[in-house]
Amino acid sequence: MRTQVGIIGAGPAGLLLSHLLHLRGISSVVLEKRSREYVERRVRAGVLEQGTVDTLVEAGVGERMLREGLPHHGIELRYGGAGHRIPFEKLVPGRAITVYGQQEVVKDLIAARLAAGGDVRFEVEDVELHSLESQPYITFGGERLDCDVVAGCDGFHGVSRPAVPEGVLSVFERDYPFAWLGILARVAPSSEELIYARTERGFALHSMRSPAVSRFYLQVPADARLEDWPDERIWQELRTRLETVPGFGLATGEIMERGITPMRGFVAEPMQYGRLYLAGDAAHIVPPTGAKGLNLAVADVRVLTEALAAYFGSGSTELLDGYSDACLKRVWRAQHFSWWMTTLLHTFEEDDPYARKLQLSYLDYVTSSEAAATTLAENYVGLPFEPGR
Ligand code: FAD
Ligand code: DHB
Repeated sequence: MRTQVGIIGAGPAGLLLSHLLHLRGISSVVLEKRSREYVERRVRAGVLEQGTVDTLVEAGVGERMLREGLPHHGIELRYGGAGHRIPFEKLVPGRAITVYGQQEVVKDLIAARLAAGGDVRFEVEDVELHSLESQPYITFGGERLDCDVVAGCDGFHGVSRPAVPEGVLSVFERDYPFAWLGILARVAPSSEELIYARTERGFALHSMRSPAVSRFYLQVPADARLEDWPDERIWQELRTRLETVPGFGLATGEIMERGITPMRGFVAEPMQYGRLYLAGDAAHIVPPTGAKGLNLAVADVRVLTEALAAYFGSGSTELLDGYSDACLKRVWRAQHFSWWMTTLLHTFEEDDPYARKLQLSYLDYVTSSEAAATTLAENYVGLPFEPGR
């Protein structure tokens, strides 16, 4: 079997790449180790930057997102007994975010690929990459796929990054001493906008998916286990951390899904080796406080699409050669923003009273200075995608 681009992973990065390449007349095969049901049900991100929304709409896969997604023009930072709104419409006019579940984006992309006759294979076993320096091919479940280029879109725990010979990649990483416990609950949101809450007991986030479904996250110790968090404890802790301003009451409901995510920042450089190009979580991850992971995956895929279109169109490797450099500027901006939001809002056990005073002082600054609030807003809604980025 032969294709132009062999894509490993049917997450947002792999599926969007396959779709954008199809629109440019470039063939691809997507190999995914999980089932279609599994990837369509996996609950993860929910915040889409303006550039991500625009990309999906321009690619013809934004119709349901525009209908069902929830545009948001601000977020609330809650701490010290008060809520402070960061108004996007005032600070970054014309730019906003859309709350729309990642698994809905994945569903829309899979439907679009299959409707166009795309080759997306689920439940493939034993994916291995070979001969990445010259004539790459991928083996899986007893089959062989020859391709001109391999796109490693298989997330943080995939096989693509480890296929790069040792010593080639430089890795930069930071582990945080806590995790996020996330739940999806059948209950109307208790707030119209997202609430990022900093308390002495730790961070809490109130998000949503629809007028009838809410999403919440709690900062928990890095070694927390779900069995130690029965429903009542989760709701109790969410109430304690969110019901800190007068008049706010948290509505509760049936918990439909739950999970614990470690918090980590990670970048592997360069994001390419031979004819392998890494995109999305395969190359970098951010702590989720800044809501940047999915949006970075989309940004990478846009750069890679342009580079592959130039290569297959004219044979020029210039953009492909510069792929990693073109992506990493944005990747590091997002790393910094995600680290900054995380340190601003979480409780660090090692923090002494002095460090806590600094954190609160910084929160006061961000919520009272227009310049500081604009920095937050500009990064949160996402820096514009440059042409070809
Ligand atoms: P993935 O979505 O991880 O997709 C990789 C795919 O590759 C998977 O389907 C996997 O099954 C497959 N795969 C893995 N190994 C193999 C193999 N060996 N062979 C074949 N297939 C393989 N980001 C945001 O932008 N905003 C948010 O609000 C946000 N919130 C988040 C909240 C949580 C709780 C979590 C966990 C993440 C959040 N993120 C957020 C991050 C976001 O979900 C990821 O950055 C995003 O999923 C990256 O997409 P991807 O396609 O690169 O990787
Ligand atoms: C969601 C996730 C995030 O990481 C975030 O910062 C905001 C919202 C969410 O899943 O809705």
